[in-house]
Amino acid sequence: MSAAYKIIDHTYDAVIVGAGGSGLRATMGCAEAGLKTACITKVFPTRSHTVAAQGGIAASLGNNSPDHWTWHMFDTVKGSDWLGDQDAIEYMVREAPAAVIELEHAGVPFSRNDNGTIYQRPFGGHMQNMGEGPPVQRTCAAADRTGHAMLHALYQQSLKYDADFYVEYFALDLIMEDGKCRGVIAMCMEDGSIHRFRSHAVVLATGGGGRVYQSATSAHTCTGDGNGMALRAGIALQDMEFVQFHPTGIYGAGVLITEGARGEGGYLTNSEGERFMERYAPSAKDLASRDVVARSMAMEIREGRGVGKENDHIFLHLDHIDPKVLAERLPGITETGKIFANVDLTRQPLPVVPTVHYNMGGVPTNYHGEVVINKDGNPDTVVPGLFAVGEAACVSVHGANRLGSNSLIDLVVFGRATGLRLKETLKPGTPHNPLPKGSEDYALGRLDHFRNAKGGSPTAEIRKDMQRTMQRHCAVFRDSALLAEGVKHMDEVYKRMTDIDVTDRSLIWNTDLIETLELDNLISQAVVTMRSADNRKESRGAHMHEDFPDRDDATWMKHTVTSFEGWGGQGGAVAIDYRPVHDYTLTDEIEYIKPKKRVY
Ligand code: FUM
Repeated sequence: MSAAYKIIDHTYDAVIVGAGGSGLRATMGCAEAGLKTACITKVFPTRSHTVAAQGGIAASLGNNSPDHWTWHMFDTVKGSDWLGDQDAIEYMVREAPAAVIELEHAGVPFSRNDNGTIYQRPFGGHMQNMGEGPPVQRTCAAADRTGHAMLHALYQQSLKYDADFYVEYFALDLIMEDGKCRGVIAMCMEDGSIHRFRSHAVVLATGGGGRVYQSATSAHTCTGDGNGMALRAGIALQDMEFVQFHPTGIYGAGVLITEGARGEGGYLTNSEGERFMERYAPSAKDLASRDVVARSMAMEIREGRGVGKENDHIFLHLDHIDPKVLAERLPGITETGKIFANVDLTRQPLPVVPTVHYNMGGVPTNYHGEVVINKDGNPDTVVPGLFAVGEAACVSVHGANRLGSNSLIDLVVFGRATGLRLKETLKPGTPHNPLPKGSEDYALGRLDHFRNAKGGSPTAEIRKDMQRTMQRHCAVFRDSALLAEGVKHMDEVYKRMTDIDVTDRSLIWNTDLIETLELDNLISQAVVTMRSADNRKESRGAHMHEDFPDRDDATWMKHTVTSFEGWGGQGGAVAIDYRPVHDYTLTDEIEYIKPKKRVY
């Protein structure tokens, strides 16, 4: 097999796969620690999906209202519906202020208050006084282009360190030996050459798999390639049933309208012109957490109070806000509202609908970024040589529902933590053992299979089938019958992969092949998501199961870990196991936050 492909060998201390916020921060940290570091990315770094993050990054700086890291911790635990690991949450919220200042010093052009401090806006679920309220201004913003600003600053910074960038390289598979990660195989998309990276550490920073669904705020590149690779390496994904629907995707286009719009005073109305969030969340109203707002909108639509010809969406009003404020703080969405909905939002409401936005689940890790599995009775067994950060990972700081602006802080805090862990545990230049014979065979066998696939089903058709199935059977509201049918249908869609048809056999910019490999990554995540959702017989955070409408802490306060066997329509067996939620904090400066009813 390998004779048909040109293989180029590389040896590194650390290889980071992905160049979004978490990947770049991990790359910087490793290179700064003197480790020989490579960053492999399928898109140019500044085109990574972090570029699309809008509203901001959470940190208890207290510039615009009183704040404290313990308040941030409380809100994150409550937002997670008590599925988040409290040691990891404490780590994140305590590190957050320093991480934001570090970004400021790295050149992120944050918006400013009159006194020169970083401007912070309110975001859903972030409150003062251990959840008592009022809303806190915790989300540090660079207008509504915070991710864009961060990604550019991080890339510029990373160039000053001695890391090698492999740009437009598609990672195919991990090299595993006896349960240890030894490296990764990637393809250069420009010339089809195969690159075997031998490395003491591989960091998956490959983002989420939002494109499992039909309508998502995620870019077309968000195919969760690291999660697909992890599943093929026998690593179970954690909490995949928890999929976040952002309340305000532009109706029909799916493009994100930041929660910062509601943070700046925007509000939602139904067909009766009613500000319905007052009924669902009397205290936080439009600034309740995302799962609550998305569900309330879906309920209004379901009960016939949606707007538009089909009564199938909701209005977001910003037309009462001073146009100068919109121009200064929300210029990006003012532009996208015009382009994608043909709405002048200084005068008209925007048509919006809950849209897939974020995977709370992913590759399970501890707060050092080390991948963990259940082994020999230890649920926190570290997989040597393998790390995951950002949306690809499930640390788990977001539990069953992530708060807005906690994603960007997760990226930089845990990207940095991974660099620190590697600095602590890996000596630069540590010699490598030879790789096992045929270490490339698995990856190349799969590549070659798809490259020569001559079935009757084009990739785009199977992808559409998968996306429709997920959208129909695993959306905001779920019930037993819908999920059971979804499981059956997803298994059928998965089997269709045996009939896939790839028409381009070349190795030069073969997008047909790359999209097929991406689909293979997506579809295993789709099956795992559907099965995990069908398995969880309770409602928690983003998982609203109508036959089990209450949270059931006695039975279900645990992480789901779901493994998947096979690829390309072969196999497809799923196994579900559990890991305990960490019901302890990192230090004794805060006590474990006990579960209670979640109201906003
Ligand atoms: O609404 C937003 O600006 C998205 C932020 C986030 O997902 O954290």
